Amino acid sequence: AGVLTGCAVVPELLDFDQGNASPDAEAYTRTVAEQAGILVAENAMKWSSLRPTASTYNFTPADKLFAFAAAYQQQVRGHNLCWHEQLPAWFSSVATKDNAASLLTQHIQTVAGRYAGRVHSWDVVNEAVYLQDSRPDGLRNSPWLQLIGPSYIELAFTAAAKADPHAKLTYNDYDIELDTPEQTAKRGQVLLLVRRLVARGIPIQAIGIQSHLQATGPKPGSGLLSLIREVAKLGLEVYITEMDVNTHQLEGGSDVQDAAVAEVYKSYLGMVLAEPNVKAFLTWGITDAHTWLNQIRQPWTIRPDGSRQRPLPFDDEYRPTPAFFAIRSAI
Ligand code: XIL
Repeated sequence: AGVLTGCAVVPELLDFDQGNASPDAEAYTRTVAEQAGILVAENAMKWSSLRPTASTYNFTPADKLFAFAAAYQQQVRGHNLCWHEQLPAWFSSVATKDNAASLLTQHIQTVAGRYAGRVHSWDVVNEAVYLQDSRPDGLRNSPWLQLIGPSYIELAFTAAAKADPHAKLTYNDYDIELDTPEQTAKRGQVLLLVRRLVARGIPIQAIGIQSHLQATGPKPGSGLLSLIREVAKLGLEVYITEMDVNTHQLEGGSDVQDAAVAEVYKSYLGMVLAEPNVKAFLTWGITDAHTWLNQIRQPWTIRPDGSRQRPLPFDDEYRPTPAFFAIRSAI
């Protein structure tokens, strides 16, 4: 389908140097090396990971990811430069209305500048739309919005373009895939935001559709396709950035789970990969052994019988699942 395919990774598990790797790290490394054409750090490039203190940076895991990707001729997505979550603990005491804009632009200069020329696309702003905060512009009442105002978004994109003119600058969001009233409304606000940015000449080249989907309930449909086509008219690419399939409401054993998960990958990829501006597809992890859905024990991740989630193309033992074969035929 001409789509760049890959996954989110945990750099610490990449036994790049073939040092004293655990069997898990060996299998993980081999699978990522063999299967992915593009990588993204699951957590290592977020503020909380990169910024242990206000005046220091920890680039070690991110550097390792870039070195690994270069060795295996894989591309890298940057995730992310500006988000309301996973901010460091010091942030709330250090950031003020007076210094927030320079804190943000300096972070972007330093991080996007360090990897400039080596990044396929940057999630410049992540999850900025949140209708529950009831603002007319649909924006989330995030720390960045409270400190800087709505212009933080253009500030971030402008700084990213300056720091890395080669990366495709991306707006990334979730819960914009379904035709439910809530997601239809959110999708509409995302499109309005993108249109506002384009109209003002702000550098933005892509949108990321996270695609954390459910095995049960409503399926993605025509609303998502029209978003993809509307942004194509604006000249923007689309990336499926974080796909996985949650089975927290699906009863049944692992065979039932695997069949339902594979069916979602099949129908979703069949739909979105037919759109010529969909250029990349990444799953949020590669193996069920390390999916966030098995790490975060929330009501929306816990299965009816308490068994493990199986949302990814490889299972806990690194065997390809039906989802793998669904993905392989689709791409
Ligand atoms: C998640 C990671 O997978 C978890 O390990 C972490 O604890 C929380 O964040 N949307 C995003 C990702 O943009 O950064 C999130 O990643 C998943 C939802």
